[in-house]
Amino acid sequence: MTNTPFPDGFLWGGATAANQIEGAYDADGKGLSVQDVMPRGISGPRSETPTADNLKLVGIDHYHRYAEDIALFAEMGFGVYRFSIAWSRIFPKGDETEPNEAGLAFYERILDELEKHGIEPLVTISHYETPLHLAEQYGGWTNRELIGFYERYARTLFERFGSRVKYWLTFNEINSLLHAPFMSGGIPIPEGGVPEQQLYQAMHHELVASARATRIAREVAPEAKVGCMVLSMPIYPLTPSPDDAVAVMEADHGNLVYGDVHTRGAYPGYFLRTLREKGIELDITDQDRDDLTHTVDFVSFSYYMSIAETADPAKKVAGEGNIMGGVSNPTLEASEWGWQIDPVGLRLVLNQFWDRWQKPLFIVENGLGARDQLVEVDGEKTVVDDYRIAYLNDHLVQVGEAIEDGVEVLGYTSWGCIDIVSASTAQLSKRYGFIYVDRGDDGTGSLDRYRKKSFGWYADVIRSNGASL
Ligand code: BG6
Repeated sequence: MTNTPFPDGFLWGGATAANQIEGAYDADGKGLSVQDVMPRGISGPRSETPTADNLKLVGIDHYHRYAEDIALFAEMGFGVYRFSIAWSRIFPKGDETEPNEAGLAFYERILDELEKHGIEPLVTISHYETPLHLAEQYGGWTNRELIGFYERYARTLFERFGSRVKYWLTFNEINSLLHAPFMSGGIPIPEGGVPEQQLYQAMHHELVASARATRIAREVAPEAKVGCMVLSMPIYPLTPSPDDAVAVMEADHGNLVYGDVHTRGAYPGYFLRTLREKGIELDITDQDRDDLTHTVDFVSFSYYMSIAETADPAKKVAGEGNIMGGVSNPTLEASEWGWQIDPVGLRLVLNQFWDRWQKPLFIVENGLGARDQLVEVDGEKTVVDDYRIAYLNDHLVQVGEAIEDGVEVLGYTSWGCIDIVSASTAQLSKRYGFIYVDRGDDGTGSLDRYRKKSFGWYADVIRSNGASL
């Protein structure tokens, strides 16, 4: 292929998560997950039991329409498809000793379908879907027992699917735990918030669990490649003042510590300082320290936006729409949901991660959430989503730049390759897909699928291995 920086074998595809796409929230023995009681997303109140206004209970009914959806991905030429396994389909409550066979069988059917189309699976073991029972009875990841439950779950998956799935991710956006404890860590949030001591202990438990999964994969599925997954967010100093530069460094450390532990196998000094200054003492056993040395094969990450940071409290006006906090950047435009659009930030993050960790990188989420209008063109229903094409095109050009910079990038899976329920706001009107799904925020719609303009555009990008960008 001429005129493309993307290497041969670059994996092009799309990504989803079980709780945002499958529906069938109680089918075939599935237990409840934290998502089943989050009808309004991250910041809304949780419900006691699943309520009809929770769009995720039906999702886009992928549980029953997966074959049609995967055929559409194949039509675009996907070489890889990232999806998550719903923990509570496999272990309905999370603490059982035997898995639910019907749950495993569902993912077997997905893998069959992917194999039929020659699409490589990329599996997230835990994507914001902690079984609700583990949240309510154990306090989620604040409890050390979760490590053992996760370990059993991961082992079950590696044993069953290890010969069919090469790429695995342990926890989706593991660095969101402190910012979204219930969604990310199944940690019930009392009035006044979760004490920091507990949050950091939960972070430690997840990091140990992630490393143990890597350790188990080496033993059970030696061909498997295990990666961590972090939410990436480049941070710019609001002004050139040294104090702002230090504020950026410290904010960056808060994010980078997760990748540092996953790739280097121990806590960095700056993190120990943070704990010291906060007066936090973590319960870390010798076994934990040993587990952490089982480092990942690659680093994967999501990228949507960048933020700015300042040391000046008067200028610390939080940007809209991001769960990490941070200050709005006056030089950038934002999406309809206030996420600041910054393609160059993707090149910066790729370079930063590569320089820092020297591990192959996988961009497993990127995309634009926007309101789409279904129209008729030449007798076909479609969405003329030139804004989405522009967003993705600009970001992919920057991936090409990073590859020219020498960064090793394994692949790119755009987020929500088919419209799904939003994680932060639980809306269906915040659409990311190349494929439009007829279902609205009120839950009505035929659930029919339609190819958007970006569908053909992405197919061209894949066919030309990025030369068409
Ligand atoms: C990431 C999550 O944070 O961003 C996804 O891993 C999520 O689950 C995606 O859907 C986009 O966020 P949102 O809130 O627009 O769905």
